[in-house]
Amino acid sequence: MEARAMFLLLFCFPFVRKIDAAELVTISDSRFLTDGDTLVSDAGIFELGYFQTGSSRNIYLGIRYKKIPVTTLVWVANRDQPLASASALVLKITEPGTLVLLNNISMVWSSNTTTKSRNATAKLSDTGNLVLMDENKKVVWQSFDYPTEHWLPGMKIGYDYLRGIKWQLSSWESSDNPLVGEFTWGTEIHSYPDDKLKQGSVVKFRVGAWKSEKFKGISAVSKNLNFTYNVIVNEEEASISYDYGNSSTLFRMTLSSSGKFESWGWMEEGKTWQLGLSFPKDVCDTYNICGAHGSCILNMNEQSCVCLDETKFVPRNKKDWDMSDWTGGCVRRTPLDCQNGSDAFIKYSNVKLPDTHDSWFNMSMTIQECEARCKKNCTCMAYANADASPGGRGCLLWFGDLIDIRSYPQGNGHNDIFIRMASSELVAESNSRKKGGVKGKIIIPVVILGVLLLGFISSWLLYARKNKNHAEPTEEGLILNISKSQEETMELPQFSFTTIANATVNFSPQNKLGEGGFGPVYKGMLEEGKQVAVKRLSRNSSQGLDEFKNEVICISKLQHRNLVKLLGCCIHGDEKLLIYEYMTNKSLDLFIFDEKQSLFLDWTKRFNIIKGIARGLVYLHQDSRLRIIHRDLKASNILLDHDMNPKISDFGIARSFGGNESQANTERVVGTYGYMSPEYAIDGIFSVKSDVFSFGVLVLEIVSGKRNRGFTQQEHGNNLLGYAWTLYNEGRSMDLVDPTIAESCNPQEVSKSIEVGLLCVQQNAEDRPKMSTVVMMLGGEDALLQPKQPAYFMERDLLLVSNFSSSTTNPTGSLNELTITEVDPR
Ligand SMILES: *[C@@H]1O[C@H](CO)[C@@H](O)[C@H](O)[C@H]1NC(C)=O
Ligand SMILES: *[C@@H]1O[C@H](CO)[C@@H](O)[C@H](O)[C@H]1NC(C)=O
Ligand SMILES: *[C@@H]1O[C@H](CO)[C@@H](O)[C@H](O)[C@H]1NC(C)=O
Ligand SMILES: *[C@@H]1O[C@H](CO)[C@@H](O)[C@H](O)[C@H]1NC(C)=O
Ligand SMILES: *[C@@H]1O[C@H](CO)[C@@H](O)[C@H](O)[C@H]1NC(C)=O
Ligand SMILES: *[C@@H]1O[C@H](CO)[C@@H](O)[C@H](O)[C@H]1NC(C)=O
Ligand SMILES: *[C@@H]1O[C@H](CO)[C@@H](O)[C@H](O)[C@H]1NC(C)=O
Ligand SMILES: *[C@@H]1O[C@H](CO)[C@@H](O)[C@H](O)[C@H]1NC(C)=O
Repeated sequence: MEARAMFLLLFCFPFVRKIDAAELVTISDSRFLTDGDTLVSDAGIFELGYFQTGSSRNIYLGIRYKKIPVTTLVWVANRDQPLASASALVLKITEPGTLVLLNNISMVWSSNTTTKSRNATAKLSDTGNLVLMDENKKVVWQSFDYPTEHWLPGMKIGYDYLRGIKWQLSSWESSDNPLVGEFTWGTEIHSYPDDKLKQGSVVKFRVGAWKSEKFKGISAVSKNLNFTYNVIVNEEEASISYDYGNSSTLFRMTLSSSGKFESWGWMEEGKTWQLGLSFPKDVCDTYNICGAHGSCILNMNEQSCVCLDETKFVPRNKKDWDMSDWTGGCVRRTPLDCQNGSDAFIKYSNVKLPDTHDSWFNMSMTIQECEARCKKNCTCMAYANADASPGGRGCLLWFGDLIDIRSYPQGNGHNDIFIRMASSELVAESNSRKKGGVKGKIIIPVVILGVLLLGFISSWLLYARKNKNHAEPTEEGLILNISKSQEETMELPQFSFTTIANATVNFSPQNKLGEGGFGPVYKGMLEEGKQVAVKRLSRNSSQGLDEFKNEVICISKLQHRNLVKLLGCCIHGDEKLLIYEYMTNKSLDLFIFDEKQSLFLDWTKRFNIIKGIARGLVYLHQDSRLRIIHRDLKASNILLDHDMNPKISDFGIARSFGGNESQANTERVVGTYGYMSPEYAIDGIFSVKSDVFSFGVLVLEIVSGKRNRGFTQQEHGNNLLGYAWTLYNEGRSMDLVDPTIAESCNPQEVSKSIEVGLLCVQQNAEDRPKMSTVVMMLGGEDALLQPKQPAYFMERDLLLVSNFSSSTTNPTGSLNELTITEVDPR
């Protein structure tokens, strides 16, 4: 034995160690394990022996890692029979094939092997499994079938139906007492298996449906664990196990005595175990915290519940719900209409699939067969792939209430669920998805905002009718509208100042989301539990008034999937407030420019964001009845909803322009350096093509993960646009790609996006495509035009210009990036 290990053993077990101690490789009829002996796995990774744990002097027959200086018992035989001394202990095989632990002559523990076998032998595998085999090497008993609190790689959790074994973890009573504690981690198999963490019989946490998947582990523990979850669901067994590649790193998962499910990796440098994951990780992980059809949102480490889809579900008991008693959950706004055969399904993505307590599954059905099956049965409330790994597999149906759903803001792979809805809800949905056509726009506010918005809708209809008589509003008409805006804003839903003050806890600094050019933005919670973002215009900002009116008028008339929704406003003395829908994932810049957060935006999401912004701009530029130039398009003005759908925000400085007039002069240049087209920044000329320019910058930023403003490239003295242009000309466009998406990206889509980006930032405004063309280019297969040189003037040139030209001052007088919308309070 190695001297060092000997020293440690002697040090740890001075009274236990015998002089004639041996390291065995097998236990057999003739080889017993006595005091001081260990049974060692072939590669010496694990050892079985008589060990003490923690501060107690009790002795247990257990398995631990052999090579590390910290005794970590991963399995214990006699958990409820602690022994005072090891001196009379013998582990032996008794005929016919049972492993027993004797203390002198009394039996302490037995493997109770049911299969009879002669000449059996026991070995410890390098996975930490104690295996009893018959003379033909057939396994007759193994410790992996009887887990304690550890889930080791290769070990199964679930059920063996044939042998009637339940593989589950049970916590220790305390950190140094292996006695069975309060917590278990095991599988519920009402239908498709679901793992649950329970305290006694109370469910504390549910993992969500099993998935077989492979991914790279990037924890602190190791940068390079090739993780695989293996799921087996058939007539013989339902099991999940995991593997982490052939890494030399030691890795284990465990259910702690305090009821946490944790992963640990061994840090060789520090000679300690390092904690990786720990569940439940936040209060939203609490089982069924928001009731049926509820979804939990984490806010400053406190949970709050919303209905899974607030446009389609309402609290069952509004009074309780308002008082933060969410147990009643939510019910459908429109009752199902199954008998008429007209229900259909709406897809929700990135959710933790509901509890399968009342469900049915078939692993060989396709998702189409699954839908048909669910549609036929009026008690079927939802369907999904049973195994939601990439590609998806099998069919899972839910009956009754859908509980313990959670939306994952940052996306969770492929968890899509299709929930049954009355057909009228679907009409609204598909209209809004198609293109935000007039029909959809009328239906959707009714559905979404209900009574609250009735006033708004009537004003909206009024407007639509007015518009029928006057074709397109003229510039003059618009100016008139703006001067009459006080009257118009009154037609928007008005919130009382008290309501908003209450919703934002008196505009408390804790609720502040960010500071924009015209004032701070606060997060608020209306009495009915709806979350909103409140923009409070600076009282002393005289410029703010115009912007306020402008924004209210513009936004209240615009409805599109990719535009942020204005819910109402509030004017109180000289206080002016705008109330918007709240976007769970805040703004795009917080993702693409942040090393960690950018991991949550893979290429597919980024491409969807690019396309969504483009569609939003087409709507602003040509489809809406007011034609709008945004004028301050930038990453921080793109907000993201819980599914990472982009919504353009902040029309505060947008300028409407009418009819044929596609270009106008502005007295004040507003916007953000880094995104401004040269003709706008320098001459104050704006057109739809200035938005196209900003869009191009944004696309290149999304692809590269780098800011245009502040980007410098030593070699070329370039900004991002110049750098992209250089790479493009050298045929090395792919070098621009953000390394965090290099693996996930689709090279065709990426190079198309880069080309589109470069076409949009061309020096000459006329060369730049219209946004509708951009949408076509992004969606099509055709080869694109060759971009010409971009307008990549350096920022210092611009500063020089702005010093000499009174027309190029920023309204705040600051050159910092204006951010009127939500910003993480960091
Ligand atoms: C074993 O048991 C026998 C009989 O009960 C007893 O005489 C003996 O002292 C015991 N030995 C030990 C080491 O406890
Ligand atoms: C083996 O069977 C005995 C007697 O039925 C029981 O007391 C003991 O707990 C069993 N051991 C194990 C490890 O299940
Ligand atoms: C056990 O194995 C040995 C050889 O390994 C053999 O001689 C003996 O007969 C076997 N015993 C039984 C009961 O099969
Ligand atoms: C690890 O190695 C073993 C044998 O060397 C092999 O069977 C297994 O497939 C390997 N696992 C992975 C994930 O590479
Ligand atoms: C993980 O897989 C990659 C390639 O598939 C391999 O290069 C790497 O060595 C693997 N890592 C481990 C720890 O097995
Ligand atoms: C079913 O359709 C009929 C006629 O189309 C309608 O009168 C009835 O209200 C519908 N049932 C439900 C539950 O909506
Ligand atoms: C599962 O689905 C497949 C394909 O539709 C079908 O052949 C099979 O009979 C189904 N099994 C059960 C148990 O319903
Ligand atoms: C609908 O599903 C439930 C639950 O599986 C089942 O009890 C019922 O018989 C099914 N009804 C029809 C019409 O298939």
